[in-house]
Amino acid sequence: MSRLLVRVLSSAHTLRNLKPAAAVRRSLCSAASVCPDSVFKPIMEPKLYQPPPGVRGMTSLDKEAFTQSISVPALRVPTSVLNKVIKSLKKCALQRPGLSRVVQDTEDSGDFRLFLLDPHRISSKSSFSEAEAEALRAFGVDDELVSHELQLTYDNLKSEEVLEAVLPQGQDVTSGFSRVGHIAHMNLREHQLPYKNLIGQVIMDKNPSVTCVVNKTNTIDSTYRNFKMEVLAGEENMVAKVKENGVTYEFDFSRVYWNSRLSTEHQRVVELVKRGDTVFDVFAGVGPFAIPAARSGATVFANDLNPESHRWLQHNRKLNKVESKVQTFNLDGRAFIQGPVKQELPALLKGKGSVHVVMNLPALALEFLDAFRGLLQEQAPCDDHLPTVYCYGFSKDDDPETDVVRRASHSLGFSLENRCSVHFVRNVAPNKDMMCVRFTLPKEVLFGSSSSSEQTESSGEPVPKRQKCEETTDST
Ligand SMILES: C[S@@+](CC[C@H](N)C(=O)[O-])C[C@H]1O[C@@H](n2cnc3c(N)ncnc32)[C@H](O)[C@@H]1O
Repeated sequence: MSRLLVRVLSSAHTLRNLKPAAAVRRSLCSAASVCPDSVFKPIMEPKLYQPPPGVRGMTSLDKEAFTQSISVPALRVPTSVLNKVIKSLKKCALQRPGLSRVVQDTEDSGDFRLFLLDPHRISSKSSFSEAEAEALRAFGVDDELVSHELQLTYDNLKSEEVLEAVLPQGQDVTSGFSRVGHIAHMNLREHQLPYKNLIGQVIMDKNPSVTCVVNKTNTIDSTYRNFKMEVLAGEENMVAKVKENGVTYEFDFSRVYWNSRLSTEHQRVVELVKRGDTVFDVFAGVGPFAIPAARSGATVFANDLNPESHRWLQHNRKLNKVESKVQTFNLDGRAFIQGPVKQELPALLKGKGSVHVVMNLPALALEFLDAFRGLLQEQAPCDDHLPTVYCYGFSKDDDPETDVVRRASHSLGFSLENRCSVHFVRNVAPNKDMMCVRFTLPKEVLFGSSSSSEQTESSGEPVPKRQKCEETTDST
């Protein structure tokens, strides 16, 4: 049985000549009567589909409590021209989840249908645009509006409409979430917590491919960059499958780092990697730089300290059939640089391909750059194929570019001023930016002394002049 309660008004009940500023009202009046213009709401009234006030403060979802009758404007359209009318008037058609815009005209034996209109757009026949009015004339459709009463249920409401009606008035309603495979990941605020299970249920109901809703219960864990999370609704399955830039990854979202907002950055860097190149991914996570770089034909050495990330990294190289191209390590970043990177570099510097070092741990990576100081001090210095480093950093400075270059230089003991490029990745919080400093690892750093601090002044700040770097070259 149709959910719609179809009550078409007779011609005597046709909505005539509504004032331009009046819109079709929430009809709490009988379908068999014409409501006076005074109860019509202004045409820009955004809350026409607002659920009944009784749902406010509900903490356990009662879907029935959202059911109500409303009236919407409609046109009586001969079935013979119905499709053409729908096409010409599609901008003013009723658009509600789960509601049909065409219903049976109960006044008629079958030659007519009611075409339901968006009450926000159409309040009287003068609301039709010139083109819409012309189409109605051309198809011989009477432009008088009739009122159609229907039942609006929980299923016909959008998640924001439900949550706005339930949560305390005047406080921010957030139904926003990040999607990671089948998981919707929320970051609820204090005032939303009493409603957390209802919010989870609503998000799941309104997003059919979401089968699990979680809330972050702490700030990001400082070591492995993953969140503690609480399941608000749905299954407890935290193993997500996602596709990023055409590559599939699987991982336990509760135990590793994953951020869908980095997909553009992953792609930007991977596009700089060519077949035959070598990539060292110091903080690889589950592989969003490493796996696509290997797929592009690079040889990859990928490392992560989190044993879970390491495990899923191994899983993902297999999943993407690049096992032979990706070697994985479960080491601290500094040990990775001073172990596998140090071991591989001498031969690579003499080889043909370029060498890339990716360091995406923005809270700390700039500090890890000191691991390159004097890394190859026992080797004869050379200029060829020096690695390109992509080092990420957060900055709260007014001048984030200068800030990250200063910090990178400090860590290297060598000024990168005029020797690097800085890319703004994204704004992660008010006044907090994620930046990427890209530079060729200076031979003075790589082949210099590991304890070298000639590049910094007594203040501990790096000397920003390139000239000083050259002096160091001379002294090493
Ligand atoms: C911000 S995530 C980046 C992951 C991945 N590269 C990406 O772009 O999604 C940083 C990663 O560094 C790892 N990590 C944290 N501290 C580390 C350390 N000292 N040495 C190596 N890896 C570390 C974390 O486990 C996490 O997977």
